[in-house]
Amino acid sequence: MLIMRGVLITFEGIDGSGKSTALAGVARMASEGKLAVEGRRFLFTAEPTEGEEGRLLRERLRGPAAGGVGAAAMRAGQMEELFLFMADHARHLAETVIPALEAGMVVVSDRYSDSRAAYQGATLREVFSDPMERVRELHRPWSVVPDRTILFSIDPALAVDRCLSRGEACPSAPKGPEKFEREEFLRVVAENFKTLARLEPRRFVVIDASRPIAEVLAETAEALAEVLAEG
Ligand code: ADP
Ligand code: TYD
Repeated sequence: MLIMRGVLITFEGIDGSGKSTALAGVARMASEGKLAVEGRRFLFTAEPTEGEEGRLLRERLRGPAAGGVGAAAMRAGQMEELFLFMADHARHLAETVIPALEAGMVVVSDRYSDSRAAYQGATLREVFSDPMERVRELHRPWSVVPDRTILFSIDPALAVDRCLSRGEACPSAPKGPEKFEREEFLRVVAENFKTLARLEPRRFVVIDASRPIAEVLAETAEALAEVLAEG
């Protein structure tokens, strides 16, 4: 087995929690040499990726709800979505994350496997009795576990307002015009993220993402410097 010399840090949270804003801020700090980290090369990346499966997923998320009408067709559509996200993750690992880690880089990913556990753990509640555990099980034998995961924790109502204020519906929420529906879905996802953080308290750092951008960014940079100082 290859020794991976790099460090993998992931950002997780519901839509509108501010992950992408924090990642852009950290990337800017890194390029200006303002992160308290000497001599590390960074790779900033994201899931869904810009690859083939990622593009397909974005198209799907913009379109009508997965699977069409009827419970059986809907379940099949949601399973298809899970496998597309998994395929995107597999390609992301093979082509981007693992090579960068092997080259000793610090990889920072905006969403990663915990998004699958939290989101598909919410959409697949009618398919499996313990969907989060099923999804985690699927990753276990082959995925790379992050060294640290920063969870941007926020009330779903505030997150939905942020999404709406940037002129977007939260993409993977059940389709429908109702703000309430999106909020309810994200509430389940947010609970799932909380459960994941409780299951692995050493891996997760939970940040209160409802605070002003500058504060969230400062705490994110601090968490990053801390994990990099560990080795
Ligand atoms: P995510 O990537 O988690 O979906 P974004 O970073 O895209 O979230 O942020 C969603 C919206 O909220 C954007 O319009 C962004 O400018 C705004 N935003 C991000 N962080 C904050 C914050 N701490 N306070 C207020 N608005 C924020
Ligand atoms: P993303 O582009 O990161 O959206 P945002 O910037 O709003 O956070 O992700 C698109 C949507 O895909 C988002 O609603 C979360 C969802 N998603 C899943 O359902 N499962 C996954 O495994 C991933 C990576 C994302």
